[in-house]
Amino acid sequence: MELVALILALLILGTYAWGGIRGAPWVPTRRRDTGRIVALAEPRPEERVADLGCGTGHVLSLFYEKGCAVRGWELAFVPWMIAWIRLGHRERAQISWGDFWGADLSKLDLIYVFLMPEALAKLVPKLRRELQPGARIISYVWPLPDWEHDCVDRVEGQPPLYRHIA
Ligand SMILES: C[S@@+](CC[C@H](N)C(=O)[O-])C[C@H]1O[C@@H](n2cnc3c(N)ncnc32)[C@H](O)[C@@H]1O
Repeated sequence: MELVALILALLILGTYAWGGIRGAPWVPTRRRDTGRIVALAEPRPEERVADLGCGTGHVLSLFYEKGCAVRGWELAFVPWMIAWIRLGHRERAQISWGDFWGADLSKLDLIYVFLMPEALAKLVPKLRRELQPGARIISYVWPLPDWEHDCVDRVEGQPPLYRHIA
């Protein structure tokens, strides 16, 4: 029994490590910054919004409250479960325990990312290939490399936010 519990705990911890390897470790966006994210994103009701590596879904839930359809992928098991409990059963929400690299992003209007710079560099060609013109990308802390941002939100003592347009 103890061995089963230990194996389960290791498997769950392993999902956090896998998330770190595939894009960024689980570090949630600070709550005090979420209002800035929504303000910069200017979401309209019924827009399709994704968080690539959605953590516990707290950023997506704000977009859901604005009437958007939300889509999240998360690899770390416990954050995914929290996101699923928060949003997974809602009509306009889809939260997957899985990897966003294989996902089709072409129908999204707005993407939020809080990922490591190396993952952003890898993501740029995928975004350029798949997004429709006019789709917005909001990136927390780091801008998308080789992609001029159309707007930056800086507040002293807080991480910057970058908006890019496809
Ligand atoms: C820095 S955290 C940000 C979490 C959430 N977006 C937020 O802002 O609070 C990055 C998250 O992305 C997840 N992640 C990293 N690479 C991923 C991938 N390829 N597919 C799905 N989730 C991924 C990690 O497990 C981690 O929870």
